[in-house]
Amino acid sequence: MKLPFAEPYKIKSVESISRSTRSERTEWIRSAHYNIFQLKSHQVFIDLLTDSGTGAMSDRQWAAIMTGDESYAGSRSFDELHSTVQELTGFPYLLPTHQGRAAENVLFSVLVKEGDHIPGNAHFDTTKGHIEFRKAHAVDCTVDEAYDPVNPYPFKGNIDTDKLKKELKKHHEKIPFILITATCNTAGGQPVSMKNIREVKKLADQYNKLLVMDAARFAENAWFIKTREKEYANRPIREILLEMCSFFDAMTMSAKKDGIVNIGGMIALKDKELYKKASTFNILFEGYLTYGGLAGRDLAALAQGLRESSDFDYLESRMQQVTWLGTAMKDAGIPLIEPFGGHALFIDALRFYPEVPREQFPAQTLVIELYLEGGIRSVEIGTLMADRDPVTRENRYPKLELVRLALPRRVYTQNHLAYVAAAVRNIKAGSSRIKTGYRIVNEAPILRHFTVELEPVGS
Ligand code: F0G
Repeated sequence: MKLPFAEPYKIKSVESISRSTRSERTEWIRSAHYNIFQLKSHQVFIDLLTDSGTGAMSDRQWAAIMTGDESYAGSRSFDELHSTVQELTGFPYLLPTHQGRAAENVLFSVLVKEGDHIPGNAHFDTTKGHIEFRKAHAVDCTVDEAYDPVNPYPFKGNIDTDKLKKELKKHHEKIPFILITATCNTAGGQPVSMKNIREVKKLADQYNKLLVMDAARFAENAWFIKTREKEYANRPIREILLEMCSFFDAMTMSAKKDGIVNIGGMIALKDKELYKKASTFNILFEGYLTYGGLAGRDLAALAQGLRESSDFDYLESRMQQVTWLGTAMKDAGIPLIEPFGGHALFIDALRFYPEVPREQFPAQTLVIELYLEGGIRSVEIGTLMADRDPVTRENRYPKLELVRLALPRRVYTQNHLAYVAAAVRNIKAGSSRIKTGYRIVNEAPILRHFTVELEPVGS
């Protein structure tokens, strides 16, 4: 009998989490105005809100924390991170930042101006936020397959090159760069193929445009390339990463994902002039060039985290966890985005609660039910997160209305996942009873989902 694959690590330190009763949770979610961002962590049993900054660091990362160099300038920990990033990506220039959106802020301060168009595959919300904050436009050129939740297309994060060509032809003088997010979080953690990156690079060259990667989950993207793109089956993850990065002029990265650290980010670049321009903004917004808003120990832990996340066995065990939970839910008839994403599973709320009107936020309704049922915290990736159109102030209804169950790296066991699958099954069994959702009582003008206050319709 073939032995099953098992996690290539064991547990050295544990953290208690507490269960609660349904009546406690009913009260807590009401006090949180039906917004899971407003819950306290002790009110949550299994936290699948995000895979960002929630991973478990390794003993080697903790050791690196102890040996971090806290010098203001010229820190040895910066040099360690710099050489690791060079080794993994080939980019010669590095600017650390305190997280991913800070990297966006710094780089976009150089590259984006009012009226610009930034074409890409479904931009993440902070990316879009930084573009729209500058009165520029994020233009979604993702392949149509991404918006069909059951289409088995293996690279639903790909850019549709016809859509991109059209955009380049029409607006080329307004386009400072093309952005590829790998994997594409907004499309459901879906990967981008090497072939697609190569094709987009060709178009970028043709129009003399920079190509920028949002590299938050680039190691997971490399795993998908290895396992789904035939000619890469025998290539090591590190080689695939290097090849991926070779097509880009720069990358921004939230290191809280594939860096497996609790805080951190960076910009890596090819061009010295662009580095120099971005450096000024980095010093202004983040800190000196060799720390960029992070402690020396953070830089050291990040260097080690990047080495660990680019290891095939680690990636394989992570993907097996996602696949196990996805399969358990799929077997129970839960409508999911397929193929399963890299860092998370996405439940299709429009199929789960077909009777809840879209203006009553069916995905948020399911998020709340999941919390009430099992103390499980997930997140809405739908109309609430899509915000209002900046001009018309109307709700933007995205093509998909999703609930994301994101898996923190190296944190939960198979039993936790079985608990989650059982809770989702229970909710599904009673789903026909749910016909109404929630209405907004209070909201911020941008990135509203973090602070929005809701109440049940009919209350
Ligand atoms: N880009 C992508 C693709 C992301 O998923 C995120 C964050 C960011 C940029 C911003 O990075 O949080 O370090 O400032 N995603 C988190 C999530 C918040 O839950 O998916 P950040």
